[in-house]
Amino acid sequence: MSETTYRNAAFEDIPQMLKLWQEFWPPQDSEDDLKRKIRKDPDLVCVAECDGRIVGTIIGGFDEWWAWIYRVAVHPEHQRQGIARRLFSEIHQRLAARGADAACLIASPSNEAMCDLLRKLGYQEKSDRRFSFVFQR
Ligand SMILES: CC(C)(COP(=O)(O)OP(=O)(O)OC[C@H]1O[C@@H](n2cnc3c(N)ncnc32)[C@H](O)[C@@H]1OP(=O)(O)O)[C@@H](O)C(=O)NCCC(=O)NCCS
Repeated sequence: MSETTYRNAAFEDIPQMLKLWQEFWPPQDSEDDLKRKIRKDPDLVCVAECDGRIVGTIIGGFDEWWAWIYRVAVHPEHQRQGIARRLFSEIHQRLAARGADAACLIASPSNEAMCDLLRKLGYQEKSDRRFSFVFQR
């Protein structure tokens, strides 16, 4: 089986990232949005790559107060291989290195795969679709 690697996203990855997200969500991000984010927070835009293809993404945000996690996605052909788990591990490390103590994420309660994953990772479920996670130091 081919190896999956994890790294910061580069501008060249943007078309593939947008294409991957189209598998799951109506278009809501532009190439310029992603370029701006990669330029500002290169360590907080993380991708999984397999055989030269972007197969997973995760994005972190930190405003020196709260940390948020966005755009968690794994290509359907690569799901259930632990890629999302590893992407979370990467972004948690990167957010902690920025000084974040905890992270929040919004997930629909009907998204069983995501909710199951978040619970397994130790996220606490709030009443308003929000999950939060406290980093271990
Ligand atoms: C949710 C998602 C990111 C999981 O990615 P993944 O790489 O398949 O997840 P992993 O292989 O790391 O799975 C880790 C755990 O998540 C849970 N999980 C993943 N897919 C699941 C599914 N289809 N049904 C139930 N639980 C699931 C399981 O607990 C799994 O642990 P296990 O394999 O030991 O049972 C992926 O299904 C996806 O991209 N979904 C569409 C996009 C999306 O909904 N993003 C979240 C928006 S908030």
